[in-house]
Order: sequence, then structure tokens, then C-alpha cells
Amino acid sequence: MLPYARQSVDEEDIAAVVRVLNSDFLTTGPEVPAFEAAFAEYVGAPHAVACSSGTAGLHLACLALGLKPGDQVIVPTISFVATANCARYCGADVIFCDVDPDSGLATAETVREAMDRADRSKLKAVFVVHLTGAAVDLARISSVTQEAGVALIEDACHSLGTRYDIEPGRQGLVGDCALSDFTVFSFHPVKTITTGEGGMITTRDPEAAERLSRARNHGLIRTPEDWVETSMAFDPVDGEPNPWFYEQQDIGYNYRLTDIQAALGRSQLRKLPKLADRRRQLAEQYRRRSVSFGTNARLVSSAHNPDAVLHLMVALIDFETVGLTRREVMLRLKNRGIGSQVHYIPIHCQPYYREMSATPDLPGASRYYARCLSLPFYPDMTVDDVDTVCSALSDVLG
Ligand SMILES: Cc1ncc(COP(=O)(O)O)c(C=O)c1O
Repeated sequence: MLPYARQSVDEEDIAAVVRVLNSDFLTTGPEVPAFEAAFAEYVGAPHAVACSSGTAGLHLACLALGLKPGDQVIVPTISFVATANCARYCGADVIFCDVDPDSGLATAETVREAMDRADRSKLKAVFVVHLTGAAVDLARISSVTQEAGVALIEDACHSLGTRYDIEPGRQGLVGDCALSDFTVFSFHPVKTITTGEGGMITTRDPEAAERLSRARNHGLIRTPEDWVETSMAFDPVDGEPNPWFYEQQDIGYNYRLTDIQAALGRSQLRKLPKLADRRRQLAEQYRRRSVSFGTNARLVSSAHNPDAVLHLMVALIDFETVGLTRREVMLRLKNRGIGSQVHYIPIHCQPYYREMSATPDLPGASRYYARCLSLPFYPDMTVDDVDTVCSALSDVLG
């Protein structure tokens, strides 16, 4: 069976994990800061804060922004529910924005349209999602958020290794935060690198990085200069900080990444250039072979960006014209040993969000959702596997 995605873990990764299992620290040891430093250097951001999942990373970013009940945020409706849920954890209201029907990406226009539905005095942040691993037009979207005076958070759970245009003639790497406040990554097994579960937030703001680190560990403060309970914190005789002391001034969470996971992450990160090249090669083969799909199916438009490090390979299929439902196509592919998946059901259609507020028709998202089907795509596939998938899909579609 060719699954739609799977991890790529080798002997070096396993050895890195075993090394930690034999060491003094399974968590909160030297591996986490080493992974954070390597990750920050790779993406070109001054600060990277590791955490227990992409969802935790999105929540921490919301906490660092100070989101609270009554605030509003804009979230593209084509994403995993986590992108919207993180704002709800803080009590903020979510306004869903539409996406381009052929790429699934939010645009400056769809963000602006959503802003027109928001209460400008309550709007605090815009989330963008680099869906499938393709970058949104961050330069144009960030000029919209700057003009509105709201924060910009990149959900880059799909897009580690992808480059984007900072301005004409100047490119950056997703995660460098040249145009945003925070970028959040996931290391779930199907993502470009994995730690089992895990996440990372990057930022250029040192104070925000400090807030992220504290909120990840119950809000505990261990720096004596920041303590306010001085009578408990310092020795009454010599005034020195008490060595056991810690202080909590705000609520925080246990969103820590373990050293076991960080060692796996650091080992995977070393292989990222190789993994990215492999994804580009397989994407190129999909592009070549997709001509056989005929006129009723094609790859999502962002799959045609040869530079992107894609996480998903999405086909857009006109199921109605083909005369088969998506379920029938998925079952016929499954019978040929080919897994597929749908990314994503528009979040505003989920009962939880429907009951909260009415979202107008979002035609780009409806059109994208009606046609999308993720095909097998992961580094350990062979080029022959891609041919097998494309031939099977062409056959199924007739
Ligand atoms: C776009 C997007 N955002 C957020 C998440 C949440 O990441 P995690 O599963 O690491 O919590 C995912 C994971 O699937 C995702 O695909």
C-alpha cells in the first residue's frame, strides 16, 4: 500500500534517539536548545522556541500576542482545524477568509474581504497557511496587515524549506519572519521532518521569544531580575537569589518538547536538504505524469512551483464531470494499493464553528474542497511509485 504520506526515519535518527535514552536527560536537557539553535540558523530567524506540537506552537503564538476574549482573528478556512482552534483557546473569535480555488492559498484580496467583515477595533491578527508547502504571497498580505495594524502569523506546518519573495528580487526562507510576527512549524510524522509529535515557533522579537518560552513551561520565571516576590526570592542575609526559587506571574502550560524528540528533530534537520531535494524530484515526476490525467483533473496550481518543498501532492479533480464521487475514486485507488486523503474540509463548515457564527459563502474554498484529493507523496517513494499512482488515477478517471 502506498499511503498518502509517511515519515522517513533512518539508522542515524535511531542512533540519535538511543544516545539520549542513554544520557542523563530525557527532557529539559541540552538537546532542546541545540535543536532550537540549529533550527533558527537554518531558517534565518534570531529566535526559535521548540514545543510539543504545531498546535501548541500556534496557541503559544496567540498567548504571546495577548489574544483574549472579544478579540478577532482572521483564519483561512482551508486548513487543519488547529489554525482556528488556537485562537479559540484564548477566547478570540475567528473570522474565516476565502482562498484561491486553484491553490487553496489565502490572498491579499481574500484577507481584505475578511477584514471588511471584521470589527476593525477588535481585529488583532491574521493567520496565513502555506498550504501543501507552497508559500502564500506574503509580501502583499503583509502590506495589508501592516496597513491595518494587526499581527501576522504564518502557519508553516506544511512548508519547512520553502522559499518566498520578501520583495521583488529578494527571497527569504519560510520561518525567517522577515514579514511576520511568528512562524509556526509542525513535526508530526507526515511533515517534512518529524519528532513524532512536536513543533517550533520562530520570531524576530526577543521579548516575544521569552514569553513563548515561559508559557511553554507553566509560565515559570527563573531569572532573578524578573522576580517580584522578593522576600521569598532572595536570601534575607546576603540578598542572593534562592537557588530553588521560581515564580509564576501568568498562566502557562506544559508544552515542552522532550530531549528524545529534539535529538530526532536535530538529526532530521541535518537531512533536510536531502529530503527537500527528494520531494522536489518526486514533484517534478508528478508534474510530468499529470498530463495523463486528461482534462478533468490536474495538480493544484502551487504544485507547479519547482522551488517549493511540497508536503502534500494535491490533485484537483472534477468529480461531477468524471461521473464518480470522491469516495468512489478513493475506494478504487485503495483497491489498487494507493492511499489518498482530503486536505481539508473548510473549517467554517465544522458544527462547532457553524454554531458560533454565520460565515458567508466562500466560493474559492468551496470549489477547492469539492475537487481536492491528496495523492501519495513522501521521500521514500520511488519515481516508479509516482508512475504507478498517476497511471492508476488516469485509469480510474477513465
Ligand atoms: C496546517 C496545519 N496547521 C496546524 C497543524 C497542527 O500541527 P500538530 O499536528 O503538530 O499539532 C497541522 C497538522 O496537521 C497542519 O497541517
